[in-house]
Amino acid sequence: MRSGEGFGSSYGLQQTKEERKGMGAVHRSLRPLPGATVDRSPDSHDFLTDVLDGLSRPQKQLSPKYFYDDRGARLFEDICALDEYYIPSAETEIMVTHIDEMVGLLGEDVLLIEYGCGDCAKTRLLLDRLPSPAGFVPIDISSEQLHRVASDLESSYPGLEVMPVCADYTRYYTLPWPDRSFSRKVVYFPGSTVGNFDPLPARDFLDHICDTCASDGALLIGVDLRKDPAVLHRAYNDRDGVTAAFNLNILGRINRELSADFRLDGFEHYAFFNPSASRVEMHLVSMRDQDVHIGGVTVHFGVGESIWTESSYKYSIEGFKRLVSRTGFKVERVWTDERDWFSVQYLSSRGNP
Ligand code: AVI
Repeated sequence: MRSGEGFGSSYGLQQTKEERKGMGAVHRSLRPLPGATVDRSPDSHDFLTDVLDGLSRPQKQLSPKYFYDDRGARLFEDICALDEYYIPSAETEIMVTHIDEMVGLLGEDVLLIEYGCGDCAKTRLLLDRLPSPAGFVPIDISSEQLHRVASDLESSYPGLEVMPVCADYTRYYTLPWPDRSFSRKVVYFPGSTVGNFDPLPARDFLDHICDTCASDGALLIGVDLRKDPAVLHRAYNDRDGVTAAFNLNILGRINRELSADFRLDGFEHYAFFNPSASRVEMHLVSMRDQDVHIGGVTVHFGVGESIWTESSYKYSIEGFKRLVSRTGFKVERVWTDERDWFSVQYLSSRGNP
């Protein structure tokens, strides 16, 4: 996998287009029992392989998907409550202001699928207003949070069939089949997680979603926009150090799950906006010369050497439209918040054959 295309500092798809043929098929055999979850979470062998692969590259990397163990998912909820981290409030403002138009575009009796649902806070805005959704498939890699959220949703929306899938959504492609027939598949992908993909994998991932939706589907997606770098700097370097703890937790997770011996006080959180690539980069910088042991392998870190843990791309409206034009989707509608810091976009899969 070439650097920049892979899953080191960003999410990526590990399948070829051919392997992905048939992605998004709705499988009757995968209907979960009531209250059950389809579990396709990555195992520790995948995790070890990815970690050793990432740490053997010239620029050491870890995939941001590994931030989200149960502790990481809780830390991310804490980030979302920070004043400096403007994304949740900007996105909620857009959703609240334009919800009627959004649900009108999505339509009746849809099968709603959410990738990386987290705490599903914004999904509730949709579920409150969507006319008679046929079912809801929340997909997330963090099992504890997914179980909690799915059972909360079942209590809040008694007639709604909730079919949770615990999976890495960049790899997973079969969907549970709802009891009721549905008009179309609609994917909800909020929070600008698309920004955590490098541009080529982002394009491939949008195509993967397009295949999932089939020809009459839609995607409602949150996309973070370019803005004053000082705002971005504050958002990824909060005063309370929550983002730093979130970043360092990836090393703690490797220790816990792979019996490694990272000393967390030997690394520091470092996040900055890279203007030429239009992305915030998060790194963990080694504060000294040190060796770490992971799965029988010794990994050396020089003083000042970094592990690149995340990229968070910030798009212009035009730039994102260009990206989408290279996929099966077409941008039909863009809403922004008052400050034009964030956008929610409605894409239809009918647009580009
Ligand atoms: C999930 N994702 C969109 C967040 C972001 O802003 O890129 C993850 C995050 N990393 C640091 N703070 C938040």
